[in-house]
Amino acid sequence: MAKDYILSLDADRWLFHADILVDKAHVVMLQDRGILKKHEAAAILGCLANIEEREADFIDHELPLYEDLHTAIESVVIREIGEDVGGRMHTGRSRNDEVAACIRIALRSELFEVMRELIGLRRALLGKAAEHLETIMPGYTHLQHAQATTYAHYLLAHADAFARDFSRLIRAYECTNMSPLGAAAFASTGFPIDRERTAKLLGFDAVLEHSMDAVSTRDFVIETISCCSNLMVNLSRLAEELILWSTSEFDFVRIPAEYATGSSIMPQKRNPDYAELVRARAGTVYGCLMSVLSICKALPYSYNRDLQEVTPHLLKATKTTTASVAVMKAMVEGLELKEEEMEKKAPLGFTAATELADTIVQKTGMSFRTAHKIISSTVSVLTDENLKLITGQESENAAATEILRQIDEIATGIIGKKLSEMGLTEKEVREALNITLNIQRRKVKGGPAKKEVQRMIEKRRTELDKDEKSRQEKEERVRRSSEELEREVKKKKRSIRVIKRLSPNLLGIVK
Ligand code: ARG
Repeated sequence: MAKDYILSLDADRWLFHADILVDKAHVVMLQDRGILKKHEAAAILGCLANIEEREADFIDHELPLYEDLHTAIESVVIREIGEDVGGRMHTGRSRNDEVAACIRIALRSELFEVMRELIGLRRALLGKAAEHLETIMPGYTHLQHAQATTYAHYLLAHADAFARDFSRLIRAYECTNMSPLGAAAFASTGFPIDRERTAKLLGFDAVLEHSMDAVSTRDFVIETISCCSNLMVNLSRLAEELILWSTSEFDFVRIPAEYATGSSIMPQKRNPDYAELVRARAGTVYGCLMSVLSICKALPYSYNRDLQEVTPHLLKATKTTTASVAVMKAMVEGLELKEEEMEKKAPLGFTAATELADTIVQKTGMSFRTAHKIISSTVSVLTDENLKLITGQESENAAATEILRQIDEIATGIIGKKLSEMGLTEKEVREALNITLNIQRRKVKGGPAKKEVQRMIEKRRTELDKDEKSRQEKEERVRRSSEELEREVKKKKRSIRVIKRLSPNLLGIVK
């Protein structure tokens, strides 16, 4: 059927509750403004309540018969109570402002969900960090061993990225929670409607003022999916690390059993499929962003049916993001850490080299570049035997003696002097090579030293509580508005029962 081509059933199902709310608020406002009579409003509201009650039946059997959700609801209202009354519901509005309002309302709930999960993930990261202030691991640049750090310090890096994702989502929410209702097709209406009233009843923070802008824009969709994309970038990086770290090569972590799968042929396998799908779904979400950007590009003002094609991508992007955050939270919480392995590998690749160069600068007063040259040459001549010394497989003292001897030899070649004659002692070399000590030395703001990480965790916990409160307040405000709307709807329906009782013949039309 040709009509099937223009349907958007999944998105319309998603918008169902929002549309009922929008219809109710519009009818309440129309009646308040005297545009609808009391009995007309009551009849329409009664009918909307009925459609709402039989949601599943309406969606399965009636929705697909019409061009879209808005037409379907209006048609059923008219079928139930007649066109003379039901046909007044759409007074002073268009599907254009209606659908924009519905999308914003439905999106608002999705944003609450992403934010809720994100708070959970951030809390999990902070909790795990607090447990692992002294769990040592290698840190990487270029995926090569760089300097040692702690698992707590590493987790906080991800937590901070997710905290910024959260702030971005709050801004996307603010851009989303504006009411386009009353813009009608684009040119507003001559009916004396009250845009502030519908905005308030629907829990919007403000009216999206310009009537042409209100129906034309989907920038809030682009903004939301951009936030989701950024968040998915961050999730995918964490996912990738879990995948790598669970390999035999790294062997740092074991992915919790519920988040791994076996192989149909290899009995020993424990595959990180969930993390892999988080990584893959980042691509899915970027796809949604690309689709929406491409659909909106060069679209003439104001409304075009092209805009309908945007909605399913928004739905997919937000649902995918929320689910991915939830999976990641569970994986972070259930991750089994192989602390010994992490610590054992932390010094490999001479991760103490920077600390050693820094020590030379501090003890001898030479420039960092010269110290860098000396250590760089020393590392390149270190034999496997020497490296074993540094990695703690031999006694620390022996390592320090041997390294200092090598340093002196190299330094003589480069600057014509031995560093041991310039004040560098074996003890200092030994301390620089000690991974635990050299982590504790990096106590500047943001560094991995235990105290500093503890301070960062505390600060982030306070920020997280604030973010959670801000999310809850927003959700609470929306909930209060919908209660207020329900009270108004009840009032309107009650007033008609009173009239009906007093003069039953007057209102034959009202069921
Ligand atoms: N289903 C449509 C959408 O999502 C509703 C608006 C239709 N408006 C119109 N003038 N055809 O965009």
